This record gives sequence, C-alpha cells and structure tokens, in this order.
Amino acid sequence: MAGDALELVTTSASDTERVAAALAAELRAGDVLALHGELGGGKTCFVRGLARGLGVVGDVSSPTFTLMQTYPGRIPLYHLDAWMQARGEAFLSDGGAEWLTGEGVAAVEWADRVKEWLPAERFEVSFGHLGGERRRLALRWTGAGERLAAVRRAQAALESDQKR
Ligand SMILES: Nc1ncnc2c1ncn2[C@@H]1O[C@H](COP(=O)(O)OP(=O)(O)O)[C@@H](O)[C@H]1O
Ligand SMILES: [Mg+2]
Repeated sequence: MAGDALELVTTSASDTERVAAALAAELRAGDVLALHGELGGGKTCFVRGLARGLGVVGDVSSPTFTLMQTYPGRIPLYHLDAWMQARGEAFLSDGGAEWLTGEGVAAVEWADRVKEWLPAERFEVSFGHLGGERRRLALRWTGAGERLAAVRRAQAALESDQKR
C-alpha cells in the first residue's frame, strides 16, 4: 500500500490522546485528517489530543451540532463532524471546504460522509472497539513520504508502558 501506515492499540482515552498529540507535532497548515469508526471509538478523544499537541488551551467538545469548531493553537485546528451528512455537505459546499486546506489543520469526524470534499493527500485514522477501553487505531498518510515518525515513536513508548 502506498504511503506511511501503522496500527496500534490504546488501552485508555489518555493513550489515544497521547498518540494524537504526537501526530500533532508533525502537522502543518493545510493538513486534513479523516477520522473513521463507530460512535464511542475515540474520534473526539483523538481531536482532544491533537488540540493539546497544537497548544490549544481549553476544552474540546464534539461539534456535532455546531458543524465546525475552530481552536487557536500553534496552527489553528478546525474540528468538523459530518454525522449529520446533509448539514455537513451543505456547510462544505457553501464555502466550508476552504477551511479544509486553509491555514489550519482540519480534523473531520465521520469523514466517509463527505469524502468528495477531502483532498487526496490526507491522514486517515480509523478506530475500532476491542472491548473495554481497548481501541485499535489504524493511521495512514496517503501522500508521499513519511509523516508518521512521531506516532511511531509514541507507539514504542506506549507499548513499553503497556507491558509494565
Ligand atoms: N482507548 C480509548 N481511546 C479513546 N477513548 C476511549 C478509550 N477507552 C475508553 N474511551 C472512552 O470512549 C469514549 C470515546 O468517545 P469519543 O471520543 O467521543 O468517540 P467518537 O467521537 O468516536 O464517538 C470516551 O468516553 C472515552 O473516555
Ligand atoms: Mg465524536
């Protein structure tokens, strides 16, 4: 498969945040993250970690009803939720899509529902329940080059903590 990819298992919400915070260190303006997986998988939790890694101060909540929330950080973070597909599509086709590849990093929950608007080069992050607090995260950068080095380092640290 083209691109940089890895899978890891987290055993708590704070682990998932930690993985996301590591990825945040590699992000630059215009990056898009497509988040996939069922309800409760950890998509919003991951965005909370991205926010922390980008130096956002304050709380991150689910943007299901607001469509998009903007957080100022080292790079602005745009958090979208396409759960309500028709509203997500309306927002993106009414100019919202400019946010996706603009001056910030965009994280899109339920990204499958608005995939026509996503750039071909993006991060794909999928969350699967493994029971209890265990989640399988699959991360992939679809463009050229390696973009997951920091996540790979965080994974190694996590796995050594999980063995303790
Ligand atoms: N390993 C884990 N990673 C992420 N969240 C976890 C984990 N274990 C338990 N949780 C809990 O699962 C829920 C995930 O919710 P959320 O991030 O809102 O999911 P989504 O946005 O995918 O619907 C939170 O209540 C979180 O505390
Ligand atoms: Mg959510």
